[in-house]
Amino acid sequence: MEYSERLKMLPVQFFASLVKKVNKAIAEGRDIINLGQGNPDQPTPNHIVKALQNAVEDPNMHKYSPFRGLQELREAAAHFYQTHYGVEIDPNQEVAILFGTKTGLVELPLCLLNEGDLMLLPDPGYPDYLSGAVLANVKYHLFPLKAENQFLPDFKSIAKEQVEAAKLMYLNYPNNPTGATADLAFFEETVRFAKENHITILHDFAYGAIGFDGKKPVSFLQAEGAKDIGVEMYTLSKTYNMAGWRVGFAVGNAKIIEALNLIQDHLYVSLFPAIQKAAVSALTEEQTCVVELVARYEKRRNALLAACQEIGWKVEAPAGSFFAWLPVPTGFTSEQFAELLLEKTDVVVAPGNGFGQFGEGYVRVGFLVDEDRIIEAVSRIGKLKLFL
Ligand SMILES: Cc1ncc(COP(=O)(O)O)c(C=O)c1O
Repeated sequence: MEYSERLKMLPVQFFASLVKKVNKAIAEGRDIINLGQGNPDQPTPNHIVKALQNAVEDPNMHKYSPFRGLQELREAAAHFYQTHYGVEIDPNQEVAILFGTKTGLVELPLCLLNEGDLMLLPDPGYPDYLSGAVLANVKYHLFPLKAENQFLPDFKSIAKEQVEAAKLMYLNYPNNPTGATADLAFFEETVRFAKENHITILHDFAYGAIGFDGKKPVSFLQAEGAKDIGVEMYTLSKTYNMAGWRVGFAVGNAKIIEALNLIQDHLYVSLFPAIQKAAVSALTEEQTCVVELVARYEKRRNALLAACQEIGWKVEAPAGSFFAWLPVPTGFTSEQFAELLLEKTDVVVAPGNGFGQFGEGYVRVGFLVDEDRIIEAVSRIGKLKLFL
């Protein structure tokens, strides 16, 4: 028995070898500080857990969900966009419930592109974008996100033939891995670019709740005309520490939403209804848990920046997400530097080249451990005296 060609084409999981090394080091009893991963460390807020517990007691929740999810959840998603972004969403035509947004990101090229079509993906970027392209057997062109452009794409610098051929483009702000954010003017420019060139936009708003220094991240759908040409995907994984629950949604253009719903009619019967009920509670009930979470991340970010300054590591403050994108000292590649940190300091960071060739020269540091551990990690790195 042989695997299909398509399966064989799936990209190698770049971080798998790092995870292996980290697990080995932990098994050896070393005091590892893992800043390399993106798994929220805080528990899901209690009122959401309680909503699941209550829902699970109800036998109606044990049946198949409606194929396109509970009406209540689609309405909660629409209500959430109205409340937080002032964006009008039709719960019946403009919301698709997703098993976490990773699923939606991978499904979308299968919905909209034919074999050999072209999509535009950010470099550096979230590695699973490539998985969707490969599964749909489409081509992709990677456009660079550079420090000199605040890690936003420079639409004018993308080659004409790529722009003309492209049918779909992925964007993600607040950005993983760079921590950059986008403003409304950028999204308005995106809408113009997309309309002029007949490109559909998927904006991945995974870190939508996490903006620092009092600046709330902007939704792509706030840009006029965005719904004509795109959708946004929103996950509950980060906003409510629900990464293990697998719940998110897409909102926006009705035709794209219908395509996502259609493919999902064939792949799934939507999520466990009790989880959908808990998601309704997350989206519609008190949001102080989110305010507290963002304050916690901001404190950790500030602790990281102060510790870096102390050891002479010149770094930019991320404006959002829970990642900092830190330059590698001269003389090292990203991978060499990450390996050195693991071997000599028991600190794990994600090498930037794992997010694409334009990630070379950086490491991604997540602030998903307590402040004292962050300070301890940077102080261990300081002892290597690489930044003097
Ligand atoms: C940029 C980005 N998009 C999407 C996801 C997927 O989130 P989920 O599948 O949990 O909704 C992640 C998770 O780490 C992410 O970093």
